[in-house]
Amino acid sequence: MKEKIAVIATGNSHKLEEIGEILQGFNLEIKSMKDVNLDGLEIVEDGTTFEENALIKARTVMEKTGYLTIADDSGLEVEALDNQPGIYSSRFAGENAIDKENNEKLLKLLEEVPQEKRNARFVCVIAVIFPNGQSFTVRGECNGSIGFEPKGAKGFGYDPLMIIPQYNKTFGELDPAIKNKISHRARALEKMKEVLSKELRGE
Ligand code: IMP
Repeated sequence: MKEKIAVIATGNSHKLEEIGEILQGFNLEIKSMKDVNLDGLEIVEDGTTFEENALIKARTVMEKTGYLTIADDSGLEVEALDNQPGIYSSRFAGENAIDKENNEKLLKLLEEVPQEKRNARFVCVIAVIFPNGQSFTVRGECNGSIGFEPKGAKGFGYDPLMIIPQYNKTFGELDPAIKNKISHRARALEKMKEVLSKELRGE
């Protein structure tokens, strides 16, 4: 019998699985948005930072369910574009833009920018909020640079454009097992695990 319930506030089954896996050693019963009847819930992410948006999602779901809730917010920051697209990564080319359109817009904006000035980072912030309202956030980053054309069909979003220097390949070309070890999300999840285990022990 698990002691506590934790809701993962995401509609993305891949994220649900990844977060669920990292929490396996915890005495937590993991629930999806579907499990708590919040499937399809629209949350207005009107924060100005990844931290604010992750907390908005986590708080909204915690208040509706009364359970400990975990949410994330992620995106791509490109140095030459003053860290755009940032929190607007999924809707960079418009409200319902698809990955290809976002990638095309990014490549167009960087058309004149030489390779050495195309540094970028993926950012992932995870927010955890407890039923008493106490919360914390952690941040994971993964550095790389933006190529001149998409390469590889693995992953999603900006993966085919993001060259990882240690491998000289994009996340679109790299084995997902490698991505899952070094990604912004993996790094944030590891940090979350550390803080959460301390918090749960201290409660
Ligand atoms: P969200 O956190 O799921 O809302 O993701 C925001 C957006 O950031 C995604 O739609 C992608 O465009 C981008 N993004 C976040 N993480 C990744 C990644 O691991 N690879 C590629 N794109 C990503």
